[in-house]
Amino acid sequence: ASDRSGSSVVFVFRGTFVHSTPQAALQILEDALLGVDTKGKIAFIGDGKDLQRLSQAFGFSPSEVTQLEQHEFFMPGMVDTHIHASQYSYIGTALDMPLLQWLNAYTFPVESRFQDLAFAQKVYAKVVKRTLRNGTTTACYFATIHTDASLLLGQIANDFGQRALVGKVCMDTNSSVKHYKETSQESEDETYRFIKELLNKKYPLVKPVVTPRFALSCTEALLSKLGAIAKNNNLHIQSHISENTEEVMLVMNQFPGSESYTDVYHKCNLLTDKTVMAHGCHLSDEELALFRETGASLSHCPNSNFSLCSGVLNVRNVLNHKVKCGLGTDVAGGYSSSMLDAVRKTVDASKVLTIQNPKHNTLSFEEVFRLATLGGSQALSLDDQIGNFEVGKDFDALRVNVAAPDGPIDLIQSDGPKVLLEKFLNLGDDRNIVEVFVAGRKVVPFASEKSD
Ligand code: GUN
Ligand code: FE
Repeated sequence: ASDRSGSSVVFVFRGTFVHSTPQAALQILEDALLGVDTKGKIAFIGDGKDLQRLSQAFGFSPSEVTQLEQHEFFMPGMVDTHIHASQYSYIGTALDMPLLQWLNAYTFPVESRFQDLAFAQKVYAKVVKRTLRNGTTTACYFATIHTDASLLLGQIANDFGQRALVGKVCMDTNSSVKHYKETSQESEDETYRFIKELLNKKYPLVKPVVTPRFALSCTEALLSKLGAIAKNNNLHIQSHISENTEEVMLVMNQFPGSESYTDVYHKCNLLTDKTVMAHGCHLSDEELALFRETGASLSHCPNSNFSLCSGVLNVRNVLNHKVKCGLGTDVAGGYSSSMLDAVRKTVDASKVLTIQNPKHNTLSFEEVFRLATLGGSQALSLDDQIGNFEVGKDFDALRVNVAAPDGPIDLIQSDGPKVLLEKFLNLGDDRNIVEVFVAGRKVVPFASEKSD
């Protein structure tokens, strides 16, 4: 057991905790005690047998400890490393075309509507609430090109208590929609304004992220400017890379001086240890090596990769190259906003590769659990703050009841904690997520249902 004696503890839970470490995809702590301090950080995690000693060291009474029920456990909150908040407006529809046709036919026309702040408010409140309820404690969002609506997304995430990276999308070329495009100058200026105004709000859990949509939507001049902005202000960067083969071919045509798609971003200083790139289905091993060298990470978005018939990312190969990797829903290319779906589709994608090649080393559910939690925190360079139940990290956690009444899971015999986790990951939904904590604050159930 480790602890930080002296800090004052505001609540303590006793029961089963499951999480991941860099060494162990799944660590199960049975009859553990976990205390959270006034700053929402984990003050200690120890053995239930040490109740007396811990209660004296941290100044709480054993009677204040909340005991979990028999089929309950705590797990770290899930990290959605790639989701388009604006596309929540048409989730579950329009999946009948490949990527580039889909962008022009559905995505750009819908995203252009977010200059209307009332529409943005409605959609953004719904996506933040839905993802929180589904157990996404941290989300890395794309908004749209509209600065004020993007700022509103930051405000809504803050109001509901979700940890969020928020990006104002940048695009200065190749849009099918006349008004859904910026000049390079506008894109640069508005990115500055977005960053400055969001940072001025001093939301404790919300950060801006520099967001070139993808190489095909940006001129080289704009990509370079955005790389410089990120570097000079030490900011996160997000984009898309190597999602489908037609896209890769067009990128090589649009940037004839580059050796690869990855090289396009690298030349513009867009690959850093605070960069997360979505998809990467068609990256070469050389490109993965460049990710590894620069510290850039990948967001694996299997629902979207299947739904738009983009490709199947070999996550095993990504991990073998020691590239940081998290999971993303990629709403609305992905039709589910739930990270549990991303977990299941990640296993499915790995099994597709095993069907194609029986020698493929299929991802285990424990490894995929780690990708959804600790892996996501690493991919977003937040693993000093979140991702597992280490002392000193923020308490971002889900209280899961596998036997929730009216829930989707029937327990037949008395299962151990590892099987309970496996059943939750494969069969569970929001009915099993009875409480959600972000930075020690209970954010689900919602305090009020006012802003819809
Ligand atoms: N590439 C560029 N824009 C997008 C987008 O909105 N969704 C997906 N899946 N890929 C993209
Ligand atoms: Fe995307």
